[in-house]
Amino acid sequence: MARKRLFTGLQPSGTLHIGNYFGALKLFLDLYEDYESFLCAVDYHALTTVRDPKLMHENTIDIVRDYLAVGVDPRKAVIFKQSDVSEHTELSWIFNAIIPMSLLELGHAYKDTAGKGKEATVGLFTYPTLMAADIVLYDTDVVPVGEDQRQHIEYAREIAHKFNTTFGETFKEPKEMIQKDVAVVPGTDGRKMSKSYGNTIPLFATKDEITKAVMAIITDSGGESPSNVYNIHLLFKSREELAPVYTANKGNYKASKEALIADIEAFVAPIRERRANISDETVIRVLKEGSEKARELASAKMKDVRQKIGVSFND
Ligand code: ADP
Ligand code: TRP
Repeated sequence: MARKRLFTGLQPSGTLHIGNYFGALKLFLDLYEDYESFLCAVDYHALTTVRDPKLMHENTIDIVRDYLAVGVDPRKAVIFKQSDVSEHTELSWIFNAIIPMSLLELGHAYKDTAGKGKEATVGLFTYPTLMAADIVLYDTDVVPVGEDQRQHIEYAREIAHKFNTTFGETFKEPKEMIQKDVAVVPGTDGRKMSKSYGNTIPLFATKDEITKAVMAIITDSGGESPSNVYNIHLLFKSREELAPVYTANKGNYKASKEALIADIEAFVAPIRERRANISDETVIRVLKEGSEKARELASAKMKDVRQKIGVSFND
């Protein structure tokens, strides 16, 4: 039986942290080999915010390098970038032509920006139609995403349905896959680890960066064991393994932090080294091979779409 298809889009948006790893990447790693998986670096989506060509280039390479470093095998997933498969933008135009403005006016990303009185670009407004095109071009079954992307997958379904009812059955309606029981990874100040709070431990941090981040963990001076340190430690070791460490270090926060530094370093060092050995050329080759496979599928689908809407004369 054919495997189901999984598609996810990677925003090339800077450095990953251990919250991203335990909250999203790890789930993806556990899952992707059970499907026919597609990973797409969504550079045209990023263009709605990134206006520095050098940064666009570097971030795109980096996000793919990060995925390879944590263990995604390019022989087991189609890894490519959106701008290499022009069918994505072509299909998004067709979707734009058939869905009402009122649907997109309800989009969270657009509403948040417009609601703050900021100017929203047309690209931000039509972001959901490009995302729908990304997904449905490949007859995707499931889309693993964070809760914040739920609405976008609902849009993809609605847009696919609209096309199907207008022009005949063409697209599969995809389902979101949102991990429900993912614990929030705490940052160095006890709040959710997030790049917007500046409380992160980078996933590919050097030993010095790890030390600096852990030493900066805010500890309340009241208790016997520092909960902010312990809660991060639980990502790397079980309660049973940690019990003797924290019993021996009762009241000695520095020693607990040093134990945490050692455990983070043991986890990070191999992926950090793997990442350092993945050259730009390797990433570019992976993207090139991936885009060839993606283009094959996308162009076959678009041939069908063009016929269905009546613009195709020759094939
Ligand atoms: P940030 O908050 O740093 O901007 P993103 O919003 O880019 O992170 O998150 C990317 C993915 O990582 C999402 O799927 C999100 O659910 C997951 N994630 C981010 N931070 C955490 C965290 N502290 N705990 C668990 N998962 C997280
Ligand atoms: N909007 C997604 C995000 O911000 C990125 C994305 C673009 C995506 N196209 C996609 C995710 C298709 C899943 C499927 O994270």
